[in-house]
Amino acid sequence: MRIDIITLFPEMFEPVLNESIIGRAQKSGAIEIVCHQLRDFAFDKHRRVDDTPYGGGMGMLMKAEPIALCFEDICAKLGTRPHFVYMSPQGKTLNQKRLKELAEIDNICILCGHYEGVDQRVLDEFIDEEVSIGDYVLTGGEIPAMVFADALCRMVPGVLTNNECFTEESHFNGLLEYPQYTKPAVWRGIEVPEVLMSGHHANVEKWRREKSIEVTRKKRPDLLE
Ligand code: ADE
Repeated sequence: MRIDIITLFPEMFEPVLNESIIGRAQKSGAIEIVCHQLRDFAFDKHRRVDDTPYGGGMGMLMKAEPIALCFEDICAKLGTRPHFVYMSPQGKTLNQKRLKELAEIDNICILCGHYEGVDQRVLDEFIDEEVSIGDYVLTGGEIPAMVFADALCRMVPGVLTNNECFTEESHFNGLLEYPQYTKPAVWRGIEVPEVLMSGHHANVEKWRREKSIEVTRKKRPDLLE
């Protein structure tokens, strides 16, 4: 999978996407993430990427043309048109099911919004999908794009090792994950559940399944409906 990110702040992504699991996956070639500075595509007299809204009102809007030029440049370089996503609180809220579908796409381009938003014409003409990371508003699309890219990448085959495998994780089968414990077996007088120490595989599986349902019922009853 290749992810292209259009942003006014490409330097924000470096420390996040070049570390840990995502950094390792980029080095191994399983995924490729490329950030594009939108300012490099502002060719008008004042090289502006934003301007005031028609009809008046507060704040600035991102201009259509630099976004269009940047996306067209990405398409030309890739030789294909990526699925173009705009990070926006108006989008459909992301969930694991949708991420799984999107992780099947080879090329995704993410537009990070800033200021008060983006000229509607570029959204209408270019954007395939608006994606929200939740019903709250952030100051820009960069952090949502990082959340989206991270969650997407870990679904790509070869990104997670067996140890990190996602099949049993929270939200994978619509249930939250069962509680887990590591050494020592007794910590500050609190023991690890006995069944986990028994070595009895079937009993461990049964316990985990029951706990998954119990945890989901307690924390996220909406998921069971
Ligand atoms: N930009 C600002 N808030 C956002 C959100 N909740 N999701 C996606 N993009 C955003």
